[in-house]
Amino acid sequence: MIEIKDLHKSYKMGSNSLHVLKGLNFSIAEGELVAIMGSSGSGKSTLLNILGMLDEADSGTYDLDGVPIKNLNETKAAKYRNRFLGFIFQSFNLINYKSAMENVALPLYYQKVPRKEREEKALKYLAQVGLKEWAGHLPNELSGGQKQRVAIARALAAEPKVLMADEPTGALDSKTSYEVMDLIQKINDEGNTILVVTHEEDIAHMCKRIVHLKDGVIVEDKKVEQVRAAQYVK
Ligand SMILES: Nc1ncnc2c1ncn2[C@@H]1O[C@H](COP(=O)(O)OP(=O)(O)O)[C@@H](O)[C@H]1O
Ligand SMILES: [Mg+2]
Repeated sequence: MIEIKDLHKSYKMGSNSLHVLKGLNFSIAEGELVAIMGSSGSGKSTLLNILGMLDEADSGTYDLDGVPIKNLNETKAAKYRNRFLGFIFQSFNLINYKSAMENVALPLYYQKVPRKEREEKALKYLAQVGLKEWAGHLPNELSGGQKQRVAIARALAAEPKVLMADEPTGALDSKTSYEVMDLIQKINDEGNTILVVTHEEDIAHMCKRIVHLKDGVIVEDKKVEQVRAAQYVK
């Protein structure tokens, strides 16, 4: 599903250059639940931005679902992004004057799905994240965990090939984090391919594989032998 080979990325600042990704290699198969773990500044978001086609590597290759991702113009990148990828962010990124249902329906609007079908699908995915009764509510009427579940429903609504989550539990307390991870595990059980970026070990261990980044290098890439249940124990 995802294959990167010898990926490099530097940020240029004046005459200086910061080498952030230093030759990364991995492949991710359909149906995997992978954590990209590393401390702050290790290059996780830089990597996810490249995988999400929001940025490009300086060198190396990236294939997504068999398509080489390189030199895409913004229109093409946006088209692939809509077709292949669903994003979940630390800060939810919901539109605060739109209801939960309208937020979830938005990607379908961009896919030119007719209104009635958009609304049906949005309700279906809200139900899947346990928020059917909240469809008409605005984001500021929802708790942090509920907002993130709306964001997850929105990502699912476009039926992407891969879900990419950058610190999805970063703004949530432990209990709510575990609820969100429980949902992510359930969505993965249904066959969805998911990447979770996190700096937290316990969140990483709720995934089935951990790719450990340190200073722009993969220092470990391992299968999680005992995937932690996302159940909060006080
Ligand atoms: N747009 C940018 N311009 C310059 N430096 C950047 C930019 N984005 C990130 N960096 C730097 O690159 C390094 C990796 O950042 P990032 O990928 O955001 O790490 P992480 O998500 O693991 O915290 C950090 O040192 C950060 O300061
Ligand atoms: Mg980051």
